[in-house]
Amino acid sequence: MKKHIYLIGYMGSGKTTIGKLLSERLNLPLLEMDEIISERFGMTISEIFDAFGEDAFRSAEEDLLLEISTLEEASVVSCGGGVVLSENNRKILRDSGIAVLLQADPVEIYNRLKSNNDRPLVSGNNKLEKISKIYEARLPLYIETAEVIIDTDNKTPEDILNELFLYVRMNNSLIQS
Ligand code: S3P
Repeated sequence: MKKHIYLIGYMGSGKTTIGKLLSERLNLPLLEMDEIISERFGMTISEIFDAFGEDAFRSAEEDLLLEISTLEEASVVSCGGGVVLSENNRKILRDSGIAVLLQADPVEIYNRLKSNNDRPLVSGNNKLEKISKIYEARLPLYIETAEVIIDTDNKTPEDILNELFLYVRMNNSLIQS
């Protein structure tokens, strides 16, 4: 059954900001996947990658998504950017909620991420190159998973929220607003 609203998209696409606003507007709990994983490990995301490797992080991410998908209560879920890498996750996202892709241009993403150091996949030198490469590889997976795609470039959080809110209200009778 489709009950959650999953925000998917590249790192820095605004999932956290929009997630907070959306959960307040819809009066639904907000589940931040990275935050939950970080709390469970007692480490930052970078520390998890350093200590246990990306595979351990992906496995924790997959377990958490499965757990969230079986919750009775509807939630707004802000997903880590790489959640779509697993085919199993893509199916869960499609089957148990509305997956909303917050789309942003790689240069815009670079500008938003350049001073952030807790994104292990795009840290260090050649940031824009790393971002563009992952962006190209991920785009088909995001598109395949998303039920709705919102272009976030040159839009305020309020604009994005209004677009999304309209879609959610029209398509999800379970959510009262
Ligand atoms: C990742 C995105 C991050 C975090 C981790 C890996 C990715 O989440 O899960 O650094 O592979 O795109 P955000 O999208 O919230 O930055």
